[in-house]
Amino acid sequence: MGMTHQPTFDRRAFLAASTALAASAAATSRELPRGTPYAAAGGPLAIASLNGVRSVARAVDLLREGYDPADAVVQGVRIVEDDPNDDSVGLGGLPNADGVVELDASVMHGPTHKSGAVASLRNIKNPAQVALLVLRRTDHCLLVGEGALRFAKSHGFREEDLLTEHARREWMHWRENMSLDDDWLNDSERDTPVGKTWDLLPWQASPAKDTAPRTNDGPNFRDTPAGGAPVEGGPPKKSAARPYIMEVTGTIHCAALTEKGDVASCTTTSGLNWKIPGRVGDSPIIGAGNYCDNDIGAAGSTGRGEANIVTLAAARIVDWMGAGQTPEEACRNMCKYVLDHMKEKRLWRTEGDRRTPTFDLKFYALRKDGLWGGASLWSGGQMAVCDAKGARAVPMAYLYERR
Ligand code: GLY
Repeated sequence: MGMTHQPTFDRRAFLAASTALAASAAATSRELPRGTPYAAAGGPLAIASLNGVRSVARAVDLLREGYDPADAVVQGVRIVEDDPNDDSVGLGGLPNADGVVELDASVMHGPTHKSGAVASLRNIKNPAQVALLVLRRTDHCLLVGEGALRFAKSHGFREEDLLTEHARREWMHWRENMSLDDDWLNDSERDTPVGKTWDLLPWQASPAKDTAPRTNDGPNFRDTPAGGAPVEGGPPKKSAARPYIMEVTGTIHCAALTEKGDVASCTTTSGLNWKIPGRVGDSPIIGAGNYCDNDIGAAGSTGRGEANIVTLAAARIVDWMGAGQTPEEACRNMCKYVLDHMKEKRLWRTEGDRRTPTFDLKFYALRKDGLWGGASLWSGGQMAVCDAKGARAVPMAYLYERR
């Protein structure tokens, strides 16, 4: 894989990005200066996307107890997969266009350089655990759909409905409001009742609250246009209707490093909300949403998976770290690389005086010497880390300042 990428995109954006990066790079690298030997990290460490603060703490605890790093990351992300209030992963994940939750996950193990993954897995809330079984108990790297489900069930996993009431409501709200040209009545088309309505389904004991925290990447909500379908990239049209969640890709990535310098990484997700059933993102694709090399380190991503699949982001970041880049430099350069290769006009918009991507993407990287970092297309991103100082969220480098 080539290491000599020269970004060629919009110069103004690049200059703005460089200024922002210089400031944020300082913030991240303060945590562990470039070239710091692994021993300076003070023991095992783990990094994750921001929704993984609890995960990195758990992963480090397990590493201290002597667990394999693959078990540490899988048990770390399990906390988020089990959490019904995180609508990006596992139980409670936002569903596909049919209202069915479909999960993707992968695990990579540095010491054996093996991977395991599952894609479009339904009804099993812990796809990362199933991915680890694929790694450990088969000669394969990736199982999908019905085969992945049968594999999970034969290992004792029990099926359950992963669609929480919050996720169902968000899906139904999207379904009803996506077009005026169908038989579902948009908010703006429905008659106003003359009194209170009994907003309960038969099995509900109390009205569902729509207060679940948002953990996904990117601009979460699209105003529902009063006169039709959402306008991609343009300024949102105002309407009285509650906006619906649009094109969100939330995910958790977690990577861990043992005291001896062994690495493992895991990425798990419910993928793009309202996706076409069967759509597979970057998370289970080794080299795209997750990769590790025991001689170098690990990398992974959250955000628009399609952009990672066509650029093989995680493998490229690890490769670049192997060539001497810091984790943050490699992640930042990957952001530029993705944009440099983004030729589709619909994925760009004009915001005043600048041309910007319509989505977000975040990269996380951990080097074998204990140096770690991340970068995001948009400002405001944070990542999780746990080392001798404990688990915490830290700011990430970025290319574009949100306005
Ligand atoms: N990065 C998660 C996805 O695109 O599915």
